[in-house]
Amino acid sequence: MPLTSALSELAIFGAAPAFEETLHVGRPNIGNRRKFEERVGDILDRRWLTNGGRYVRELEQRIAEFAGVGHCIAVCNATVALEIAIRALGMTGEVIVPSFTFVATAHALQWQEITPVFCDIDPRTHTLDPRRVEQMITPRTTGIIGVHLWGRACDIDALSEVADRRGLKLLFDSAHAIGCSYKGQAVGGFGDAPTAATMSNTAASLRDSKASA
Ligand SMILES: Cc1ncc(COP(=O)(O)O)c(C=O)c1O
Repeated sequence: MPLTSALSELAIFGAAPAFEETLHVGRPNIGNRRKFEERVGDILDRRWLTNGGRYVRELEQRIAEFAGVGHCIAVCNATVALEIAIRALGMTGEVIVPSFTFVATAHALQWQEITPVFCDIDPRTHTLDPRRVEQMITPRTTGIIGVHLWGRACDIDALSEVADRRGLKLLFDSAHAIGCSYKGQAVGGFGDAPTAATMSNTAASLRDSKASA
């Protein structure tokens, strides 16, 4: 395939598409469809669709076990999970985020009237570079949000060290990382309140010691 050299050569700007079928960045894993449909049928039969029904409680419990955390609260999407965690941690002013992430990491801050400060990533891992974070801290900085991008955990140890030493809150956006681990431990258990998401449901998990939301 020839390399494109101008925006007008991209299909998104009207040029002929390079592939007959749309290529997606990722496709969700549907799992056992028959079992899923049985459970959806059971939900409809019970006519209990909101507020702490059997399946949402089971989901929360199983995600908490899976992530090795004390509590898990299912919410409608990862942006809301981030907003709840940001508010629960009392972040204000400026919060440092990686310059390479999905825009919702920054939107969740902006919705709370907090300024997202974009920090360089490590070119080897594409995740937040802890050395650069240190340089972005100002008197208005109250926290850091690391993103486990595409299932790859960011440098949790180094970010924790900076956050502890500089007295900052530390949150991990784990929207891409449900089921992923860091040094043998599920990523859901790190930071002050990690958030996790699958394509269709989202969970905010809180460590025992910080279970304030
Ligand atoms: C890194 C990251 N954070 C947050 C979100 C927001 O997730 P949601 O669309 O469930 O609000 C996404 C969504 O793709 C994401 O990729």
